[in-house]
Amino acid sequence: MSSLLIVNIGKLVQVRERTHSPLRGAQMDILPVIDNAFLLSEQGKISAFGSMSELPQDFLRNAVKVIDASGRMVLPAFCDCHTHLVYAGSREIEFIDKIRGLSYQEIAARGGGILNSARLLHETSEEELFRQAMVRVEEVMHFGTGAIEIKSGYGLTTEDELKMLRVIRRIAEESPLTVKATFMGAHAFPERYRDNHEGYVREIIEEMIPAVAAEDLAEYIDVFCEEGFFSIEESDRILAAGRKFGLKATVHANQMSVSGGVELGVKYDAASVSHLEFAGDEQLEVLEKSETIANLLPGATFFLNMEYPDARRMLNYDIPVALATNYNPGSCPCGDMKFMMALACMKMKMTSEEVINAATLNSAFAMGLGETHGSVTIGKAASLIITRPIPSLEFIPYAFSTPLVENLILDGKIVI
Ligand code: NIG
Repeated sequence: MSSLLIVNIGKLVQVRERTHSPLRGAQMDILPVIDNAFLLSEQGKISAFGSMSELPQDFLRNAVKVIDASGRMVLPAFCDCHTHLVYAGSREIEFIDKIRGLSYQEIAARGGGILNSARLLHETSEEELFRQAMVRVEEVMHFGTGAIEIKSGYGLTTEDELKMLRVIRRIAEESPLTVKATFMGAHAFPERYRDNHEGYVREIIEEMIPAVAAEDLAEYIDVFCEEGFFSIEESDRILAAGRKFGLKATVHANQMSVSGGVELGVKYDAASVSHLEFAGDEQLEVLEKSETIANLLPGATFFLNMEYPDARRMLNYDIPVALATNYNPGSCPCGDMKFMMALACMKMKMTSEEVINAATLNSAFAMGLGETHGSVTIGKAASLIITRPIPSLEFIPYAFSTPLVENLILDGKIVI
């Protein structure tokens, strides 16, 4: 693979010598940058960077390709550590129901929501599902995403869960994105188990998890631990069964209520627990003492018109905070990490530095990529955004709908 040299970078952002753990509390407000910088990528990895005044002349002579980034910034490609990007069709009819006043839970209770997506997915071929997902993959790359976590959970039968996970695997193979796959059979109770929740929990434990593991289709297991969805006891059994097959835990926690999901995630050493709209001091104290990242999804809070998670309180508690889009057809039909950063600034009072840290390094850690992605560090993947000309770092979340990306470089290759 060829070498790529970027020179005259206005600001090289998120420069770190080493990154062993996510940033916590006050550390999140510090974002190291080098002004007027260069960066060299070789064999898909960052091999050197520094100030232009120190640029070795042989880098210029030997580079296969040189990009002049005058007036632009270079930052790590975004890591979107929580998405449901593989789904069939869309659910704008429920959007209208929401405008007319129905809540997310009311729509779900009528057989809409996740079950609606499951019906559509069942009728959609694997090939077509892949085609639809790749349109979204293309879209998120234009927003600057370079690594993405994708969950199953619209199958709700063994066959359809495997179909989703195979599509996720194909995205990993055929797109330039770095992809992490999560099995989420415990996303909702399917119609056939409406009055027999135990039956579905057993199907997940006895059939789905072994089948997923047999094809090595997922690295993580997730559970929607929430009133009206999976109870603590059910979620606990499912995560325990996943662990036996080597699946690492992550939890949809405290989205609609104080569900116990945070404590459960910590019990299973989850890399992250997601949502946390309902998290009080008790939950935050548990998180503070753990290695688990609070993964906030402000796009879903926005779309469902709810109260935002109290990010400032989490940061005062010295908790690592990550941001993700939660791209899905029900609670956030949007895969734009920059918009999440803007919401986090406006609605959760995070600073520009905090949101960039949350969307790059901490989100990389939240999806098990902290050692290879999320910062400008020697040896990490050369997965980078070259911005359009922008005046300041603050401009990134401020100009929330202005396109940011001029080039996206993934593993050293220019993909946009
Ligand atoms: O994280 N809460 C559960 N899962 C998604 C929504 C999925 C859907 O409604 O289709 C979420 O918000």
